[in-house]
Amino acid sequence: MTYNDINFNNKTILITGGAGFIGSNLAFYFQENFPDAKVVVFDLFRSDATFSNGSLKSFGHYKNLLGFHGTVISGDINDKIALKDLEDSYSFDYIFHQAAISDTTVQEQDIMMQTNINAYEDLLKIAIKHNANMIYASSAATYGDSDRFEVGYEQPNNAYGFSKVMMDNIT
Ligand SMILES: NC(=O)c1ccc[n+]([C@@H]2O[C@H](COP(=O)([O-])OP(=O)(O)OC[C@H]3O[C@@H](n4cnc5c(N)ncnc54)[C@H](O)[C@@H]3O)[C@@H](O)[C@H]2O)c1
Repeated sequence: MTYNDINFNNKTILITGGAGFIGSNLAFYFQENFPDAKVVVFDLFRSDATFSNGSLKSFGHYKNLLGFHGTVISGDINDKIALKDLEDSYSFDYIFHQAAISDTTVQEQDIMMQTNINAYEDLLKIAIKHNANMIYASSAATYGDSDRFEVGYEQPNNAYGFSKVMMDNIT
């Protein structure tokens, strides 16, 4: 089953965060429905590193990709050399940007903003250079305490929600 009329066959698709929950499902969506698409997963994957709240620093897991036949690259979207390598090695038609610190309770604001805002902007620049479509993930956390779920009424109440508002503002 496909969700729109776009034919992704023969397209080159980057999925950042492709070893995570949504990204890995996207990877299989393209693999199953568009076997001639070239799908590149870029993900930090998990290690035993944790934030101060005890959560893993990244949730990517190889088991989410068992059966995936595309390209898998382990890398950090905060690593400008790795991004340059992606930019030079491929010509993307689509970037599905799912990589993020997705834990809403993470307290480290510095790495949250770097990962969720600044690295997104770097990926946007690649999308512009490649003339690629960028599809990114925002969050309901942008609204936080707001009683109005409308653009312009965002009221995030944690660093994660704030980072997602800033992403939305860039676009
Ligand atoms: N799942 C939800 O209900 C939900 C709701 C709203 C928004 N979102 C957003 O959707 C996106 C995907 O969410 P998810 O549920 O799949 O989360 P997830 O944590 O399962 O996936 C995120 C992936 O990003 C990777 N990652 C983290 N930091 C990275 C880095 N520096 N470089 C490269 N990869 C990195 C992780 O390893 C992980 O595989 C995120 O942007 C999240 O904020 C998710």
